[in-house]
Amino acid sequence: MPRYTLPGPKSAELIKMSDEYEGGATSRQQPFVWDHAEGCTITDVDGNTYLDWTSGVLVTNVGHCHPKHVAAIQNQVGRLMCPYDFPTPERVTLSKRMVEATPSNLDACFMLTTGSEATEAAMRIAKRYTGRHEIISFYGGFHGRTMGAMSAAGKMGTKKQYGPVLTGHIQSPYPYCYRCPFDTTPDKCGFKCLSFLDDVVEANSTGQLAAAIIEPYQGGAGFIFPPDGWLSQLEQWCQANDVLFILDEVQSSFGRTGKLFMAEYEDLHPNFMPIGKGIGSGIPTSCLMTEKRIMEIFEPGELSSTTGGNPVSCAATHAVLDIFEEEKLVENSARIGEYMLGRLQDLQSKSDFVGDVRGKGLVMGIEFVADKATKEPSKDITWKVVDACAAEGLCVGVVGVYGSVIRVAPPLVITESEAEQSCDIMEKVVMGLQ
Ligand SMILES: Cc1ncc(COP(=O)(O)O)c(C=O)c1O
Repeated sequence: MPRYTLPGPKSAELIKMSDEYEGGATSRQQPFVWDHAEGCTITDVDGNTYLDWTSGVLVTNVGHCHPKHVAAIQNQVGRLMCPYDFPTPERVTLSKRMVEATPSNLDACFMLTTGSEATEAAMRIAKRYTGRHEIISFYGGFHGRTMGAMSAAGKMGTKKQYGPVLTGHIQSPYPYCYRCPFDTTPDKCGFKCLSFLDDVVEANSTGQLAAAIIEPYQGGAGFIFPPDGWLSQLEQWCQANDVLFILDEVQSSFGRTGKLFMAEYEDLHPNFMPIGKGIGSGIPTSCLMTEKRIMEIFEPGELSSTTGGNPVSCAATHAVLDIFEEEKLVENSARIGEYMLGRLQDLQSKSDFVGDVRGKGLVMGIEFVADKATKEPSKDITWKVVDACAAEGLCVGVVGVYGSVIRVAPPLVITESEAEQSCDIMEKVVMGLQ
């Protein structure tokens, strides 16, 4: 018997109300309504509890309602909330901290509110700085839903029937090695999709390329990680072609992959690094890390954002960085992530339906297929697993180009025993399908 029959009565009532009043355009989720959460555990409005593998879409990196994070926010709310572009101690000291924490060439921090705003700003600034207007991005990529960010999307689902997108956007294949667009493998391809960039540019560019934008791993496309060395070769390609390099760390930053920033794995030095999600651990905030030499082209007042860098967001991020240091959460991400990846790869070898498992630190994807030989994606099996996980007390979500990948992204405070319990649930559910 499953642990819960869902939705519970209070959840059912609220889900009905949501269907009636919220328009239904947000993504499908498991059938329960969150009431409160602590650490790695969510409690729904009916009192049922779930271990969290979502971090509310990779946001609550210090865990839900971490007492130190909550106290810092409460303290700031009672002191000062919004002086707009006036400097505040919170914003200025955070900018310094961000400059010190990110790659050495990134010596300017521009605070914003959402990830889309940060990627959008990076592309706009790249155009203004170079005087060129073209942006190259990658198949499957996701950079947000504002017009510029959407135009860089490599997934039709993000831009379907919103056309025309901005002119000057061109796309090239990403190394989705499980489903290689060139039908080859990383050990023998010589990074074919990278050398193909020259063909893409030759065929599509008017010679006005300003920047390349890429996620260091693709989140929305299904947690797709490029092979080692691929990103540093892309950075070299950008330098050789006088193209600014935007590394979109909105999702991959703040400890998620077992390093504070994923750029650290290959010692990357992008010209822009948009950062979001985990930076506020639940408080809406983002920033764009870039270079002073680029920002110096602007006249005062050319860039700003009403709530960007507000003191509450900045206090939240300071607390996140403090908690990371005190509780060694980035290290925890690497350590527990390794254990969970091992468990899930073991499950992949036993199950007929787990086609691929990939990840780094506490971000992994489980890709479900109807048949391992043909790799036919299966939304149907994916949703059977998602619903059964909810009934057993595990909160998961679905992503992927084919809607067939379960995201594994718990808060970085997850303990060994929570990791073990949650992997046990996933194993029980998946093996129950055989
Ligand atoms: C890599 C990446 N860039 C940008 C965004 C957009 O961020 P936001 O939803 O905060 O605007 C997202 C959101 O999922 C993302 O994953």
